[in-house]
Amino acid sequence: MIDRIEELERQATAAIDEATTTVALEQVRVQFLGRKAELPNLLRSVSDLPPQERGAVGKRANEARKALEAAIGERVAGLEATELDARLIADRIDVTLPGDPPQPVGRLHVLTQTRREIEDVFLGLGFSVLEGPEVETVHYNFDALNHAPTHPARGRTDTFYTGDGDVLRTHTSPMQIRAMEQYPPPLYVIIPGRVYRRDSDATHTPQFHQVEGLAVDKDITLADLKGTLLDFSRAIFGAEREVRLRPHFFPFTEPSVEIDVSCFNCKRNGEPCQVCKGTGWLEILGAGMVDPNVFAYVAEHGYDPEEIQGFAFGMGIERIAALKYGIPDIRTLYTNDVRVLEQFG
Ligand code: DAH
Repeated sequence: MIDRIEELERQATAAIDEATTTVALEQVRVQFLGRKAELPNLLRSVSDLPPQERGAVGKRANEARKALEAAIGERVAGLEATELDARLIADRIDVTLPGDPPQPVGRLHVLTQTRREIEDVFLGLGFSVLEGPEVETVHYNFDALNHAPTHPARGRTDTFYTGDGDVLRTHTSPMQIRAMEQYPPPLYVIIPGRVYRRDSDATHTPQFHQVEGLAVDKDITLADLKGTLLDFSRAIFGAEREVRLRPHFFPFTEPSVEIDVSCFNCKRNGEPCQVCKGTGWLEILGAGMVDPNVFAYVAEHGYDPEEIQGFAFGMGIERIAALKYGIPDIRTLYTNDVRVLEQFG
């Protein structure tokens, strides 16, 4: 009996040495130590042996089983490490290599580029970026922004209403109110986002993008507004730019202005300028000093018009991009024709 055990151990040891994969080793384990293998069966039948043989045979068979298990375990660990190494080498992919054939690299949409450029300018001036809801209440979109009940923007011909009386925001200005409700002064924020109007022609689309700006602090004046937007204009349209303020009307600012930037195209080739139609100026946005009536809606949040002042502005990202890149029809920005989109950036 002992001889047979030793013979089995020799055979198993040889098989373990020969196995070159973890799969092969598992087969060896099943063959010599599995449920139907001879050695474990032998161990199980030790009790059937004459009492004087049981001790020696049981001990030897147990030793053999333990030794084989240990040998297999050791070999598995060794093979696993080698197999992992081999797999790592075989599967190695250099993600920095160009594709084969090289794939064309995409780029950001010109509106995304322009939005990020605008954000960068204002971040550099100490403003933070906020976002807000596109489905807005009449309160935030119109009432708290001092729009009279008869203001034409409220009409169904100008604005998209939802079934329950909310609106797709017609501008990013409602975020002025939401920002002041949420954060106490001093406040310096810009709010980029989508807005919606019943408008559609070469320079208007039913959905477009704006960037709102709001600065509230002590001793803010129109000069701060002008300086901020001059800086902005120079960063976006070139260091030589000037800005001018023209009186205008917005319900939520008093006084209100429209801001023009000096044309960056004029005198390039001596011909009459197509971009500014010969006026030398390009309208880029609406702005003004925050109307005290607007502060009244957020007075309980620390906005006392006797204590603080603010300026606000709102610009269309499509308009900024169209001016900057000379895009004659902004609808082409939404038709996903790569021949158009590839031209920018
Ligand atoms: N909300 C205005 C619009 O969509 C733009 C605007 C004008 C925003 C003046 C302002 C502002 O913050 O002060 O036409």
